[in-house]
Amino acid sequence: SGSTFVPAVVVGTGYGAAVSALRLGEAGVSTLMLEMGQLWNQPGPDGNIFCGMLKPDKRSSWFKTRTEAPLGSFLWLDLANRDIDPYAGVLDRVNFDQMSVYVGRGVGGGSLVNGGMAVTPRRSYFQEVLPQVDADEMYGTYFPRANSGLRVNNIDKDWFEQTEWYQFARVARQQAESAGLKTTFVPNVYDWDYMRGEADGTVPKSALAAEVIYGNNHGKVSLDKSYLAAALGTGKVTIETLHQVKTIRQQNDGTYLLTVEQKDPDGKLLATKEISCRHLFLGAGSLGSTELLLRARETGTLPALSSAIGGGWGPNGNIMTARANHVWNPTGSKQSSIPALGIDDWDNPDNPVFAEIAPMPAGLETWVSLYLAITKNPQRGTFVYDAAKDRADLRWTREQNAPAVAAAKSLFDRINKANTTIYRYDLFGKQIKAFADDFCYHPLGGCVLGEATDNYGRVSGYKNLYVTDGSLIPGSIGVNPFVTITALAERNVERVIKEDIAGS
Ligand code: FDA
Repeated sequence: SGSTFVPAVVVGTGYGAAVSALRLGEAGVSTLMLEMGQLWNQPGPDGNIFCGMLKPDKRSSWFKTRTEAPLGSFLWLDLANRDIDPYAGVLDRVNFDQMSVYVGRGVGGGSLVNGGMAVTPRRSYFQEVLPQVDADEMYGTYFPRANSGLRVNNIDKDWFEQTEWYQFARVARQQAESAGLKTTFVPNVYDWDYMRGEADGTVPKSALAAEVIYGNNHGKVSLDKSYLAAALGTGKVTIETLHQVKTIRQQNDGTYLLTVEQKDPDGKLLATKEISCRHLFLGAGSLGSTELLLRARETGTLPALSSAIGGGWGPNGNIMTARANHVWNPTGSKQSSIPALGIDDWDNPDNPVFAEIAPMPAGLETWVSLYLAITKNPQRGTFVYDAAKDRADLRWTREQNAPAVAAAKSLFDRINKANTTIYRYDLFGKQIKAFADDFCYHPLGGCVLGEATDNYGRVSGYKNLYVTDGSLIPGSIGVNPFVTITALAERNVERVIKEDIAGS
């Protein structure tokens, strides 16, 4: 056929994909990465690569006619959103019937748009979620490897205590402590020294200029600056951008044949390519990898795929909420967009919650304390293939999020009671509503480790086919997930290279 052959293909360029490509490259395997989003390294007309959160343009969003910010409203007014031209922008919101999922699009995947919070999960909870994975190995080898590869660093505590940019976090800490709750500093991949330079006025501002969900122009060590830079540095890895993998089939010789659509940034189809490979690594994220395998199973191009594909999905218990502070307790008009503290009540046996204290960098005093709560919701969703739309549809209902809302409410009720404060009801769209229970940032599952794959991400039913990303984790990990995704990918690819590739 007219297909191009490469020894290994990695689909996507997020955490699992980047780890896999680096280790394959180091092992001498020629590897092609296929990413549907853009490489974000060219300044736009305003001289910046990314647009800011407060004045978003088409660079913000993945083919939308209007931006869809998580905090769309203030006093129920839609102040943050703008009409835009459809474009291959950096943040996507994939809207299912009763759940929307934010994901990053571009070289670096979610690392381009996320808050950079780099949290190693509590060992006991990791063991509860993935009991078949050797925790000694994870905590002795792969979590440290992931933290160092991601360049995780910690805020200077003295600076935190005195800078105006974290007043919002200190206020929220005080209020949590009044309720008998403890807080913890959260490591990050944003370079905290750079942020101090921003505060001192010696370098261009990014975190201190309300940049995060539509990309950081400076300061954040996203994957393109860490794992992917190292992968390209092996000389064995190449990346094709604006290339979306559509179908996967296996040929008689056992190699995989992909059909791939190449588009321009305005969405015009430029070419449909066929690429074949011996080893295929899926790192397209929980939504992306699951959709590719579901489509392959349901359309018969990989008919031996297991019925476990599509199952075990969860939003990591994500619930956003906000409180209104008293006028004498302002949270500050200057707020860093990068969170630094979390309320850690995960050991609470009734309602385990880890709640990051989130900024609301509106540039003016709002008296709002905002939070992203991670709760332990046992409910799981399932992806099914919608043949008419040729896409994976998510079976998940609002009621399934009721346990997560209840857990978050029990924690924030305590804080409100201790501080005689109330919830804000105006921030999450047009309805009167204190808890955002209809979107998430942490999609997990769909190709669960040990169910849809073996214990190292090898897809059941096929040889040389692997899942490397957040779809391996069954719906919950108790903290922000990318460190776990990275560490698990490190563990799995090491085994796969040793047993399936080296010397083959
Ligand atoms: P990830 O989603 O990163 O990458 C998948 C890539 O594959 C994307 O680049 C996508 O474009 C591409 N792709 C998909 N389908 C494809 C196809 N068919 N063909 C080609 N390419 C395809 N986590 C955390 O730990 N700390 C935090 O602070 C935050 N904050 C946060 C904020 C926001 C706004 C978001 C959206 C997310 C977070 N997260 C987070 C979550 C974190 O970013 C997320 O868990 C990881 O990015 C998931 O990593 P994966 O490797 O699973 O895929």
